[in-house]
Amino acid sequence: MAKLDRCLNIDELRHAAKRRAHRMVFDYIDGGADDEVTLARNSDAFNDYDLLFKVLSGADDVDMSTTLLGAKIHVPFFASPAAGHRLFHTDGERGVARAAHKVGTIFSLSTLSSVSMEDISALTTGPKWFQLYVWKDRGLVKEMLDRAKEAGYRALILTVDFPVAGNRERDPRNGFSIPPRVGLKQAWHAMMAPAWMLDYLIRPAVRYANLSEDTAAVSLQEFVNEQFDAGFNWKDAEWLLGEWGGPAVIKGVVRPDDARHAVDLGFKAVMVSNHGGRQLDRSPAPVHVLEPIVEAIGSDAEVILDGGVRRGTDILIALALGAKAVGFARPFLYGLAAGGEAGACRALEILRDELRRNMALLGTKNIAEINRALVQRRPSS
Ligand code: FNR
Ligand code: LAC
Repeated sequence: MAKLDRCLNIDELRHAAKRRAHRMVFDYIDGGADDEVTLARNSDAFNDYDLLFKVLSGADDVDMSTTLLGAKIHVPFFASPAAGHRLFHTDGERGVARAAHKVGTIFSLSTLSSVSMEDISALTTGPKWFQLYVWKDRGLVKEMLDRAKEAGYRALILTVDFPVAGNRERDPRNGFSIPPRVGLKQAWHAMMAPAWMLDYLIRPAVRYANLSEDTAAVSLQEFVNEQFDAGFNWKDAEWLLGEWGGPAVIKGVVRPDDARHAVDLGFKAVMVSNHGGRQLDRSPAPVHVLEPIVEAIGSDAEVILDGGVRRGTDILIALALGAKAVGFARPFLYGLAAGGEAGACRALEILRDELRRNMALLGTKNIAEINRALVQRRPSS
């Protein structure tokens, strides 16, 4: 814990994760598609904006609370869905769900989680969303929706930027598979990651916990391209909304026309996201396309920015440009990989504390006061 306390920001947690985790696991979290241009740009793009702080506005008692799809949250951010948390640390999704609950926000569970939706649901009373990938087997889709409803997941996130798996070249280079295989190369790297390796050896094997059967150790690409329905289209999305019957979020949109289409179909929130630069390289940074999407949707649905957030000031920029909240994954995954639940918690607390301080410095007492007049695109960008 002492070591985690020494991490002052998300980048330092990233370095701590790199030191503790096996290389194949760190690279799976950290990496992106092709040349990782979009991955880098997601965060860099926030540098294209300046915050125009107000003075003498009496921001002594900052309130960060807001709502997202009706859920009251203490901070305007939440945990985006990510696969297989137990690959990173044995605390896995349980640790992140508890950390999210502790800071008072939503935890979203991936279809490809390593703890089942029922186990997470039994663990915490905090608000939970379920993220869906669409299987070719529609029976399995229906079964997952029923289970998610039964287990109390309040909203469904449909991820749509993943018809096929992106080309993350770090993964095949490391021989990464789920569940992980430890061959000669991985055993060599394991010597540099003894704590991770011990975890891996003595804990129950990592598996896709929402599936009834264990799957063979294959690359994520192979698994996804075999199991997911790349033909899924707008008509199918309409069918899905009907099957789910509750509030739904569309995740992975960068175009105003797609966002509008989704809202007209009945999605209640749009996550402006390119999957953290892990899918189509050279797709735009979410913050660069946020404003036109907010304009296209107006007050008909909520807009969430997801991708590249590493600082409280990034959250401020997104909110000032019209996002209701932001999602992120790598910040708490670095924390988890560095130090389990305490590390995930540290990540969320770092961002919460940065945001509180920066809201005061910006001259804003609450989320409603963060508006378009407080941000400008830098003239040269
Ligand atoms: C993801 N992401 C993701 N998204 C999703 O809808 N379902 C999933 O199972 C996963 N899995 C996943 C694993 C890992 C290791 C990462 C890093 C990401 C994408 C995630 O929800 C989010 O869109 C991006 O991570 C946002 O970018 P940042 O916050 O990581 O920069
Ligand atoms: C990923 C998938 C599983 O980005 O969403 O690795």
